[in-house]
Amino acid sequence: MVNYKVADEGLAEKGSEALYIAENKMPITAKIIRKRFEKEKPLKGTTIAGCLHVTKETGNLARTLKAGGAEVYLCGSNPLSTQDDVAAALVKEGINVFAWHGNTDEEFYWCIRQCLNARPNILIDDGADMIVTAHKEFPELIEDGTIIACQEETTTGVKRFRAMDKQGVLKVPLFPVNDARCKNQFDNELGTGQGIVSAIYGMHVLFAGKVCLICGYGHCSSGMALRARGLGANVIVTEVDPIKALQAKFAGYQVMPITDALPIADIILTATGCKHVIAPTKEMFDNLKDGVILGNLGHFDIEIPTKELYEYAKQIKPIRSNVEELIFPDGKKVYLLAKGRLANLVLSEGHPSEVMDMSFALQSLMSEYIVKNKDLLKPGMLTVPAEIDDQVGFLKLKAMGVEIDSLTEEQFNYIHGFHEGT
Ligand code: NAI
Repeated sequence: MVNYKVADEGLAEKGSEALYIAENKMPITAKIIRKRFEKEKPLKGTTIAGCLHVTKETGNLARTLKAGGAEVYLCGSNPLSTQDDVAAALVKEGINVFAWHGNTDEEFYWCIRQCLNARPNILIDDGADMIVTAHKEFPELIEDGTIIACQEETTTGVKRFRAMDKQGVLKVPLFPVNDARCKNQFDNELGTGQGIVSAIYGMHVLFAGKVCLICGYGHCSSGMALRARGLGANVIVTEVDPIKALQAKFAGYQVMPITDALPIADIILTATGCKHVIAPTKEMFDNLKDGVILGNLGHFDIEIPTKELYEYAKQIKPIRSNVEELIFPDGKKVYLLAKGRLANLVLSEGHPSEVMDMSFALQSLMSEYIVKNKDLLKPGMLTVPAEIDDQVGFLKLKAMGVEIDSLTEEQFNYIHGFHEGT
C-alpha cells in the first residue's frame, strides 16, 4: 500500500515525462547505480525518508533507492519547490509521497511527521527540518536504534547540525553529504550559479549592462557572480569573510559594503545562508533602487527580509507566477522573486539534472554505506568517505567519456614521501 498526499494524482503522466527527461541526464544515479542496486538489493529491509525538494531529479533518487530494495518516503524541504506532477508520478510508482506546492508551515511539518511515522532507518534531509523534528518529536526512533544514520544535502542544514553537535544534542550519526567534493563544488557552484536564470525567467531581464549585486562569495554565490558577469552584468560582491572578499576582489569584482551597493544595484541575488543580508529597516528599504529585482537562492526565506518587506509595502501586486511587485509608500517599486524562497527551485525547476546526478549518486552510495556499516556508526558529525567521493567522480567522468591519467608508482611515492628534494 502506498501512503501519500499530493496535489493532483491526475498530473502523473506529465510527471513521468519529467522523470524520464531527468533520468536520461543522470547516468550515474539513474542508470549505473540503479542497475547494480536492482541486482544486489543492498537496501533491502530499509526504510528511507527524504525531506528533499520534490523535483524530477529527487524523483530519480527515490526510484534508485527503491530499486535497491528500500521502502521510500518523501516530503518536500521547501513549501514552494515541490513539482506536483513529479509527486503524482512517484506515487504511481509505489513511492510514499507527502508533498504539494504551496503548503503552509503547518502542512509542511505534517508531511514531515507522516514520513517519520513510517519509522525510517535512514533520513536524508535538505536543511535539517526533518532530523531536528525527529529529535524533538520522535526521540524514541533515535533511542531504540530505528534510525541508523542520517545524511544532509545542503550547507544550511550542515551548519545547523554542527551547532547541535557542538552543544552535544546531535544524537544520530550524521553524514554531511553537502561537504563532499562531488557535491558542493558542482551542485552549489554550477547549479546555483546557473540559478540566476531564475531572475531572468521571473522578470525577463537583460543582465548585460546591469549592476548585479551578489551577496556572498561562497560556493553558490561565486558561481552566481561568474554567470552574471558572463552575461555582461557589472557585478558587485558583498562579503563578511575577509578571505572570500579578497578572492572576489582578485577575481575582478567590485567589493563593497551592502549599504554602498544597494542604491546602484539593478538586480540583487543572495545565497549566504545568513539572515537579514539586507537589514529589515526603513533606511535600507529606502536605499533600494527603483525597479530593483530581489532574488534569494539561499536555503531560507530570511536572507532578503521578506516578511518585513511585505509589511513595509503599501501594495503587493502579483505580476506573474511567484513574482510580486511591491510598491513602497513613496511609490518606489521593487520586484520580489519566489516570495524570497529559493528562486532557482521555485521559478526554474532547480539545478540541471546533470549536476544533481552527482549529488544523488553520493546520497545513493551513502545509503548503501550506512546499511553496510550500521554497527560501526557513532552519533555525531561524520565525514563522507573519500573513496565514495572519488568513486562518484570517476563514474561521472566515465559517463561523460572522459579519461584521466593515474599516478605511476614512482610519482605516488614522490608525492607521499619526503626524501627527494633539491
Ligand atoms: P558557503 O558557506 O560556501 O558560502 C556562503 C558565503 O556567504 C560565505 O562566504 C559567507 O562568508 C558569506 N556570508 C555570510 N553572511 C553574509 C552576509 N551577511 N553578507 C555577505 N556575505 C555573507 O555556502 P554555500 O554552499 O554557498 O550555501 C549558501 C546558501 O545556499 C545556504 O543556505 C545553502 O543551504 C544554500 N544552497 C542553495 C542551493 C539552491 O539550490 N538554491 C543549493 C545549495 C546550497
